[in-house]
Amino acid sequence: MVFVARIQVLNVFSSTIKDMNQAEKEEDQIILGDCVEIMRQMEPDSVDMIFADPPYNLQLRQQLYRPDLSHVEAVNDAWDKFDDFETYDQFTKDWLSACQRVLKPSGTLWVIGSYHNIYRVGTILQNLDFWILNDVVWIKSNPMPNFRGVRLTNAHETLIWAQKQRGTTYTFNHHNLKMMNDDLQMRSDWYFARCSGKERLKENGSRAHSTQKPLALLYRVLQVCTNEGDLVLDPFFGSGTTGAAARLLRRRFIGIDRDETYVRLAKERITGVTPLGEDFLLSQINPRREPRLPFGELIENGFLLPGTTLYFGENSALAAQVMADGSLMMDGKRGSIHQLGRQIKSGPVNGWTAWFYLDQVKGKRYPIDRLRQKLREYLSEKGDLES
Ligand SMILES: C[S@@+](CC[C@H](N)C(=O)[O-])C[C@H]1O[C@@H](n2cnc3c(N)ncnc32)[C@H](O)[C@@H]1O
Repeated sequence: MVFVARIQVLNVFSSTIKDMNQAEKEEDQIILGDCVEIMRQMEPDSVDMIFADPPYNLQLRQQLYRPDLSHVEAVNDAWDKFDDFETYDQFTKDWLSACQRVLKPSGTLWVIGSYHNIYRVGTILQNLDFWILNDVVWIKSNPMPNFRGVRLTNAHETLIWAQKQRGTTYTFNHHNLKMMNDDLQMRSDWYFARCSGKERLKENGSRAHSTQKPLALLYRVLQVCTNEGDLVLDPFFGSGTTGAAARLLRRRFIGIDRDETYVRLAKERITGVTPLGEDFLLSQINPRREPRLPFGELIENGFLLPGTTLYFGENSALAAQVMADGSLMMDGKRGSIHQLGRQIKSGPVNGWTAWFYLDQVKGKRYPIDRLRQKLREYLSEKGDLES
């Protein structure tokens, strides 16, 4: 199905919230309106995860210029301006309370901010009984300099990750994240470049949105605490970065923004995103829950035949042969999928994701972990596997 038909763009001024709740549950939605009003009308306990990138209240009082007197495109938007801290705090309390109502008890919330607002947001969030799980520092490899040279370069932003209710079970894809991080536990300092270059959306030669976040950041956030099919809400949708990452990773999403131009921009942007093939989205890996399946069982059950060639990487020319005893042989070297992997590449290697087989029908290589998933399904259908 073409995605254009699947994104509902709703305008609260012309559609009622009833229309929204009646909209097919599976559909992604981009809603024009005030996020507090919209969330107050949504079903309670209905959302798996919220990513919020609210106005930072940057309090910029004057135009910024570089030393060569060229103008700096800063965040001077009306939506970022508040009369005083009290007004900002009330706004923060309102939208955080609305988020709390729509989150499932197992749900979690991310808020991103800078020194201008994150301490205020953090206090209010704790006062509302959200339970902080982590604060993550996004360190920018390409920060904007302090043009006037009066303080340090502000090179990071902070993300707070909190759960709706202390002590409930929530999604944390610990094992998937370790795999993404070369078998090391994922840490709370994240390095991403500011959104620039080709990724930055432009209109009439200028930035289409002043605070577009990098897609990589949202990709990471979604990997941390959501699974395929989960419903993600972004109450400050802007250019739709959360929706773009959600669509890519096959999560459902609702995005809200009160600016018509951004709603249009986000819709156009997300329409152009192709979701990853389902085959590449392995479900949550949790070795403690999933029964262990050694590599040899793939051979015993006919999922891999001795003599099959496996490749060390999706595009690599390095190849080994599967032996009848479950070892791999390459240029006279022999070992398990993990041992041989470690001989090729120093550091931790997970053989299940490092070695690829060629799917003859599709003419593509896939990690052998895909065969393990298929074997799991096959054995559990036969009743040979306890889950
Ligand atoms: C910091 S930007 C979000 C940028 C977004 N994360 C992205 O990557 O493009 C905040 C957005 O919130 C929107 N906004 C501000 N107040 C709002 C409100 N009360 N309800 C809905 N949207 C609001 C603004 O129009 C702006 O696009």
